[in-house]
Amino acid sequence: MLLIFWRLFGHKNARLQPGGHVVEKRRETWSKSWLFVLAAAGSAVGLGNIWKFPYLAGENGGAAFTLVYLGWVVLVGLPLLIAEMIVGKASRLDPVGAYRKLSGGSKFWPWAGRLGVLTGFMILSFYSVVAGWSMAYVFKALAGEFNGFTTSAQAALAFDKFASSPVWPVIWHTSFMLFTITIVSRGVKGGLEQCNKILMPALFIILLGLVARALTLPLASEGVAFLWQPDFSKLNAEVVLIALGQACFTLSVGMGVMITYGSYLDFGAPLVRDSALIALTDTAVALLAGLAIFPAVFATGGEVAAGPQLIFVTLPVVFNHMVLGSVIGFFFFLFLTIAALTSAISLLEVPVTYLVDQKDISRPKAAIGVGLLIYLIGIPCAWSFGPLKAYALGGRTVFDWLDYLSSNLCLPLGGLLVAIFVGWRCLPLARFWFLASVWPEPRRAPTWLWLVWWLPVALLVPLAIIVILVAKLFGIG
Ligand code: TRP
Repeated sequence: MLLIFWRLFGHKNARLQPGGHVVEKRRETWSKSWLFVLAAAGSAVGLGNIWKFPYLAGENGGAAFTLVYLGWVVLVGLPLLIAEMIVGKASRLDPVGAYRKLSGGSKFWPWAGRLGVLTGFMILSFYSVVAGWSMAYVFKALAGEFNGFTTSAQAALAFDKFASSPVWPVIWHTSFMLFTITIVSRGVKGGLEQCNKILMPALFIILLGLVARALTLPLASEGVAFLWQPDFSKLNAEVVLIALGQACFTLSVGMGVMITYGSYLDFGAPLVRDSALIALTDTAVALLAGLAIFPAVFATGGEVAAGPQLIFVTLPVVFNHMVLGSVIGFFFFLFLTIAALTSAISLLEVPVTYLVDQKDISRPKAAIGVGLLIYLIGIPCAWSFGPLKAYALGGRTVFDWLDYLSSNLCLPLGGLLVAIFVGWRCLPLARFWFLASVWPEPRRAPTWLWLVWWLPVALLVPLAIIVILVAKLFGIG
């Protein structure tokens, strides 16, 4: 481990200081357009797709929920994705600097960026704990620890024992943060690109393999029907709101990840096409994850509506019932860990880019400093399932609070701000960048083309988010 660290940081520093001093600070850029798309897709595809989407769809009417969710992805998620990328590309700065620059030095707007930086801290600290569980399960699967699990009750017991331990979840959380910090400290070309180039294809191959295995199980069709049979009677206001929240979280919009990633573009990237590609990839992974999980759960008589537990409690039983279950289980949790890692990188990248751009701190220093702080906040999150379980404030543990506040307050607020910013505050600029990405001569583009994006981003998104926020605040959602 030490050797790896030495190599990574030694190498980076040597490159940073040719001849012993830094002549001019130049902003790194993506080396290829598709590597940017891959990284953004890597950010979008994460824990949200793999356990949250199938579970939510299962609980809220299957295909009916899926349809509403797809509608929100197109009407809210995609316009916000484009909006964030435009802010990043037009400013070529971190979210705080981007808002300041594009608003012409306003005092208010940089706070939208600061909110994003703070949200990154909050999300990553609990995200890393769950990712750590997933990492632990990679090894548990391989070690054959699922052998002999015939009921989910047994698996639940084993999960509780693991998650409530004061030591193991923290150790895995530590390892996961070390990986994340190492990659981010290496920068865009040396870290983010290299990592996504290897991990994203690996993720797709593993996912396709799992779907193929799941669909050939007995009773697979019941699982497919469960996920796809529309039950419109389950649709209500709350379900529509849940679907909206999920559409934003899963696309990583609302805290400036896409501003940050967009800021590393230096060529005329077709932002609209790229955003569509990212949204499509993200949705495909969510749907495929559902196809991999539910047939398997049905085939082994598992509990479908188990929520966050689904993966850690139901699936080990599923794997125990399968031929080559340890191997499949190993791949599944590897897949989950990879997906979480490429998302975690994007979460850490936001505060790190902020420190590098605004405070002139070197990238490795920023990554280690921020990473360490997030790591420390993560410890009480990891203990929320064990030593600190009894110390809940208002019925929520530290883990629950960070999850609740970030997903239900900070992200929607961040989305609302970016929508108002591009839709109203910086309208001419945003209009230019949007049209430049879809039309050869932006100034001669037809008006309807612009409206296709402006109407959702300036009117529908703020309206939808204000409704969701008010509903949440008053406890309706
Ligand atoms: N989209 C990721 C997932 O589905 C999580 C994530 C990464 C995220 N970066 C984000 C969510 C930024 C909101 C904002 O798991």
